[in-house]
Amino acid sequence: DKGTYEHYMLKEVDEQPAVMRRLVQEYTNEKGELVVDEAITSRIQKADRIYIVACGTSWHAGLVGKQLIEKVAEIPVEVHVASEFAYNMPLISKNPFFIFISQSGETADSRQVLVRVNELGYESMTMTNVPGSTLSREANHTMLLHAGPEIAVASTKAYTAQIATLAILAKATGMVKGTAVAKEFNLVKELSLVATGMERLVGEKEHISDLVKANLETTRNAFYIGRGMDYFVSMEAALKLKEISYIQAEGFAAGELKHGTIALIEEGTPVIGIITDEVMGSHTRGNLKEVESRGAATVVVSMEGFEKEGDHIVLPHVHELLTPLVSVVPIQLIAYYASLHRGLDVDKPRNLAKSVTVE
Ligand code: M6R
Repeated sequence: DKGTYEHYMLKEVDEQPAVMRRLVQEYTNEKGELVVDEAITSRIQKADRIYIVACGTSWHAGLVGKQLIEKVAEIPVEVHVASEFAYNMPLISKNPFFIFISQSGETADSRQVLVRVNELGYESMTMTNVPGSTLSREANHTMLLHAGPEIAVASTKAYTAQIATLAILAKATGMVKGTAVAKEFNLVKELSLVATGMERLVGEKEHISDLVKANLETTRNAFYIGRGMDYFVSMEAALKLKEISYIQAEGFAAGELKHGTIALIEEGTPVIGIITDEVMGSHTRGNLKEVESRGAATVVVSMEGFEKEGDHIVLPHVHELLTPLVSVVPIQLIAYYASLHRGLDVDKPRNLAKSVTVE
């Protein structure tokens, strides 16, 4: 039920602060500590390598998950697009653990890999929003996203729920392993700051709608750039924009622009820079200057603490490992308004289905 909303997508964007709070509740014990099924953490902490397999937005969440698990739980992680993994299986380590990330739990590309992983006898987990879904039933373990039904084709609250759930898994596994980073990472507190920050951002709809009118209303293409976490969010931002506004968009590692793509910059080409880290951000600002001098219309999304005068959207400051949870929110809204202002079907874009059950 959309309630008073015109579109499911907007409702689902707005639900994200509540989803963050619900996740903390669902994964907290009576002592107020974050906990994950011991069968999962005790198995994962013994793995010599984790393989994350997913598609689309879930794959983008996996890229962030790799950083979280490697930094907090200190286990090496590889992230693979399911449809590629199926045909070009990488060398598998001696003691692997597989994590399938899928909002629907029904994606055929991911399932194909899971079937193979089961044949090979490797242990796996599915992180999904749908209890009892195919991927959940066929993997050894499940972690639920608790995001509530996601109806809009463009995934929003599932992405942030996936990242938060991966953070919870990283923290819980790190605690079992006893890593110093896990002990210091007060995730309950940090996720509550994220929820408050998201609330502020979803309140900036008018401002974002105006930004879209000024920069993206008629353009045929657009670029998102960032480094590190901001690069991963740039890829997600571009996918979101493509799928519902039909603007040809690409997300780039900011440093890579000058290795070719910069040739595409013309007078008025929108380039949106995402900056949530001071050092990497200063380099991204340099890249924005380069494209600006070639005529690009730049938009800067920066995090409090690292913002500069004239930046267009300022994000609330959150923990460095959780920045995608807030930087993605204005980006979801940019895609939403780009689609809306162009008079397109926001919730049901052409050629797409909510769950992709063909390979
Ligand atoms: O249900 P899944 O998470 O497995 O779906 C994977 C992709 O099809 C999905 O994330 C898709 O990319 C979204 N429509 C993006 O908004």
